[in-house]
Amino acid sequence: MPLRLATFSDIGPISKILAASFYDEELNDHIFPFRKQYPHDYLSVWKQKTVTGWWDYSKVWVVWENEDGLTGPNTTSGTTITGVAQWGREGEGSDRLWGLVRWWDPRRLISPFLSFIYTVRRFFIRNRSVAQPTPADPNPLNKWNFGPRLWPFTSHYFTHPAYRRNHWELCTLAVDPAYQRRGIGQQLVAWGLERARTDGLPAVVIGATDTEPFYQRCGFKYLVGYASKAELEDEKDLDSSKATRLDKTNPLNARGLGGGAIMWTELRDEDEK
Ligand SMILES: CC(C)(COP(=O)(O)OP(=O)(O)OC[C@H]1O[C@@H](n2cnc3c(N)ncnc32)[C@H](O)[C@@H]1OP(=O)(O)O)[C@@H](O)C(=O)NCCC(=O)NCCS
Repeated sequence: MPLRLATFSDIGPISKILAASFYDEELNDHIFPFRKQYPHDYLSVWKQKTVTGWWDYSKVWVVWENEDGLTGPNTTSGTTITGVAQWGREGEGSDRLWGLVRWWDPRRLISPFLSFIYTVRRFFIRNRSVAQPTPADPNPLNKWNFGPRLWPFTSHYFTHPAYRRNHWELCTLAVDPAYQRRGIGQQLVAWGLERARTDGLPAVVIGATDTEPFYQRCGFKYLVGYASKAELEDEKDLDSSKATRLDKTNPLNARGLGGGAIMWTELRDEDEK
């Protein structure tokens, strides 16, 4: 079966696929303007994201293992990984995904602890592939502040009564550029949609630029808005996050970036609200 849950030894190949498939994305020009000069530093950011994600007990990595028998840079133990997805379970029940005891289960601390270690490490060893503050952009986007900075603009697409707090989310999806358009992406999406159906929950994705037709075809029928065009709903959300304090304009919009289609598989019935 080419589709399976990832193992710890897949972290290297997963990071490489993420780094390669997002390499030419418009957003990367802002987040990693020096990725060509410092490929090792660029890959190391993806590795950090993959490792912290691995220890996040509300999320799960799924991989597509190629069956053509060829070996390459993404080969471990004789198999080649050509596609990856990270699915997450939000709201009640997310602790049951990996069998956490309760909210106080100490394993929940592993991922934030690793993020802290990586933050300290970055303080001493600067990552040379990422954007540095300049007078024109004193608070550049990076892989660590991107989510918290965007959240005040997009939160209502998740918390509004039209959407359900308990849901599955496709957090990341990437297929090795050499293996795209062979149905692998669709299979990785189908895995999570099946889990959502089994749990009786909807699923949501925030799509990269121009991926709307792909996701609509996969089953995310309801495009409810764009992260890049979203406006601030409530300024107090912004003040609660240190990372966003300097940026009261949408960080994507302010940089002329598009994309970020927020797409649900189903919306809540009017009478359920
Ligand atoms: C988006 C991505 C995951 C799709 O994976 P994939 O394996 O190439 O997609 P599939 O082969 O399963 O595509 C299924 C169908 O959607 C179509 N499709 C795929 N990507 C598409 C796109 N960007 N726009 C329109 N249609 C697309 C395919 O042509 C295929 O249709 P077909 O069956 O008629 O040939 C892959 O292109 C990728 O990794 N892109 C870079 C990273 C990225 O943007 N990830 C998404 C982040 S939200």
